[in-house]
Amino acid sequence: MRESHLDAISRIDETRLWNRHMHMATIGAIPGNGVNRPALSPADIATRKVLIGWARERGFGVAMDAIGNLFIRRAGTDPTAPPVMTGSHMDTQPRGGRFDGMYGVLAGFEALEAIDAAKLTTRHPIEVVVWTNEEGSRFQPCTMGSAVYTGERRLDDLLDVTDNDGVRLGDALATTLSATPDVGERDLGAPAAAYVEAHIEQGPLLENAGKTIGVVTGIQGLRWYNIEIFGKTDHAGTTPLALRKDAVRDAINVINALRKLTQDADDVTRFTVGRMLVTPNSPNSVASHVLFSVDIRHPDLAVIERLGQAVEATARAALEQCTLAITPTLHDDPCVFHEQVVAAVQDAANTLGISNMRITSGASHDANYMARVCPGGMIFVPCRGGVSHNEAEDTQPADLAAGARVLVAALLDLDERV
Ligand code: GLV
Ligand code: MN
Ligand code: MN
Repeated sequence: MRESHLDAISRIDETRLWNRHMHMATIGAIPGNGVNRPALSPADIATRKVLIGWARERGFGVAMDAIGNLFIRRAGTDPTAPPVMTGSHMDTQPRGGRFDGMYGVLAGFEALEAIDAAKLTTRHPIEVVVWTNEEGSRFQPCTMGSAVYTGERRLDDLLDVTDNDGVRLGDALATTLSATPDVGERDLGAPAAAYVEAHIEQGPLLENAGKTIGVVTGIQGLRWYNIEIFGKTDHAGTTPLALRKDAVRDAINVINALRKLTQDADDVTRFTVGRMLVTPNSPNSVASHVLFSVDIRHPDLAVIERLGQAVEATARAALEQCTLAITPTLHDDPCVFHEQVVAAVQDAANTLGISNMRITSGASHDANYMARVCPGGMIFVPCRGGVSHNEAEDTQPADLAAGARVLVAALLDLDERV
């Protein structure tokens, strides 16, 4: 590895990186060390302002696109070269932790600062992106910012999506955009030279294997649906069961049928119903309407396709009293990362003497969409007990710094190769 690259890597500051995580974790803090920072909420806006402030102090460029993706740029020498990009997201789950998403943003910013402190010139701009609404917990589906940026979805099709309180995405987005009026404009779909995202693993494999770096080779396939059950509200004390159209009862029937569909002996398939809205949501009224989410994942394309194709018929066959509507909201086939990025991450870890292993991501990430438009990949670091989407999410400062060092090396390597 070049001396100049080693110089930049040596400037990764473990304490600064950790302290920034702790600072960001105060914004939307919840008991138990957790964070609740919904996409496009006041807390999300507050973290954007902090990051923009840090970027300005360093003299980095700041821009935003039409869906609120935020770009922090250190210029390169070639004004025509597209950026080598890194980044992740700052929104969280309702009971999220301090590291899911925020690590990729802060590791990226730390990398930018380290490269700047070493006074390196790069041919491409190096850019940290904060993707809007990665989690999809407030507005469905997830990974929305990168989907719109890469042309997988149209922004216009998403503006009327509402959260659980009926707030339109379009209105929350307008509030967010107007909260930071003094930033540059970035076109949706502007080309990227490469994309490498750092993230906590969110699973137990690295910790169990005693490895510090996960060289991520791809992301498993994913299907999301919203299923609505339509029944009729009635008095809970007077209406005989046989005469009801009980939406909760049929929701349970459908969920049980889908759970059986997705059961496998080796416990590879993931099946989750994590969101449920019941109307009128009263103990002594039969439910007239239930909306619930379905999240199914598998690393094998043939399996996820087969399961996805069976969802609607399985759900309809399980109904006893009600009718049903099903809306697919996400359809991501398994993603295979570009070998050039995988190799850049692995070479970086090996050269720096950091233990590593190849790994497939169980969670979804914005890298999924970026890898469709440029060479893409990811770097994982361990998290304690594999716990994530939980306020107890935790990790070691030294592991976060190790991941940032690998990130610097990979970004500089990609700058020279792509
Ligand atoms: C992202 O958090 C996911 O659902 O995998
Ligand atoms: Mn994440
Ligand atoms: Mn997440």
